Amino acid sequence: MTQSSSKIGVTLGTRPEIIKCASLINELSSRDEEYVVIHTNQHYDWALDMQFFEELELPLPEYNLGIGSGSHGDQTARMMAEIEKVVVAEDITHMVVQGDTNSGLAGALVASKALRRVVHVEAGLRSNDLRMPEEVNRRIIDHISHDLFPPTEPAREVLEDESVAGLIHPVTGNTSVDSVLEYCDKIRIPLNERENQILVTLHRPENVDEPRILEGILSGIDQVARSYDLRAVLPLHPRTRAQLEKHGLKLPMTISEVPLLSFRELLDMQATSRLVMTDSGGIQEEACVLGSPCVVIRTHTDRPETIEVGAAELAGVDEEGIVGAAGRMLSLESVEWEQPYGDGQAGKRIVEALLG
Ligand code: UD1
Repeated sequence: MTQSSSKIGVTLGTRPEIIKCASLINELSSRDEEYVVIHTNQHYDWALDMQFFEELELPLPEYNLGIGSGSHGDQTARMMAEIEKVVVAEDITHMVVQGDTNSGLAGALVASKALRRVVHVEAGLRSNDLRMPEEVNRRIIDHISHDLFPPTEPAREVLEDESVAGLIHPVTGNTSVDSVLEYCDKIRIPLNERENQILVTLHRPENVDEPRILEGILSGIDQVARSYDLRAVLPLHPRTRAQLEKHGLKLPMTISEVPLLSFRELLDMQATSRLVMTDSGGIQEEACVLGSPCVVIRTHTDRPETIEVGAAELAGVDEEGIVGAAGRMLSLESVEWEQPYGDGQAGKRIVEALLG
């Protein structure tokens, strides 16, 4: 039990935060700590939201703020106004936020201004691209946090180099590994036993909101699928669907759209595919853990560790780069790379460091 003076708040709001906070929430529950989960409902479609609470068997959040979508300023401001009420009503002493979403930023800002302890899980990631809303969010969160938990050594060094004011805790590993190892046992399946399939995910605004870039990416994936006789499967994110419809773009025949997948289904598909092509940081980590070669469809990455160990290649967003990177990742024979994201005990370490 926490000392009577400690009450933990966990602010989350999007699919990746639910997945990456699961082990931490379970650890708090199993230790019988006093905590409340504040769900902003930034993600509200069942397939991006409640599906994961059900599948990961998480208790329903005590607070669901029903914020939904909006421009960055509008969405973040509405979150802050509601989170502030909860911080006061529950007398929260520590606010845990994970990663770099608008929900995390709102939770951290409110707690900081209310003079509560801000705890940042997955601290120290950088893409060095300030056009990314997440890069802005994570920089601010890191610099107002009291407890920072870097998942890897390079992330810890970023925090040291930037001289953040808070306490930089020892490297914990990433909580994504906790969830991958808990929910998937298909680790490092030999490449010659996999389906002739590419798992594709695309949702980043810089990739999908500009039709010329989106067309180039789809055409690159199409060429890879044709050249290597693979079928590409794309669980379609609502943002990407909206942009395809808005610009009258059609998916090439080689790319099959499927509904958004559950966490287990997504892990399973990554584990059994020859290749993963993605612009998601979380999937880049998961593919690395599962032993699936990954092509990162971005110009920058905040997960350089996956590239350094040989699990992924940064392709950029033009056709030529995508085709070249996919060719190199498809020529790999072994998927026995070093694991940079830890041993699956990150959630436990974080709770122990915070509460003893
Ligand atoms: C957010 C996070 C991003 C994370 C991603 C995971 C920020 C700045 N970005 O991006 O870091 O990788 O979640 O998906 O917080 N929409 C729906 N249904 C939903 C939610 C969203 O249809 O349940 C649509 C809406 O049109 C919305 C758009 O998707 O405007 C974008 O949603 P939003 O939560 O703003 O950002 P994401 O792109 O999902």
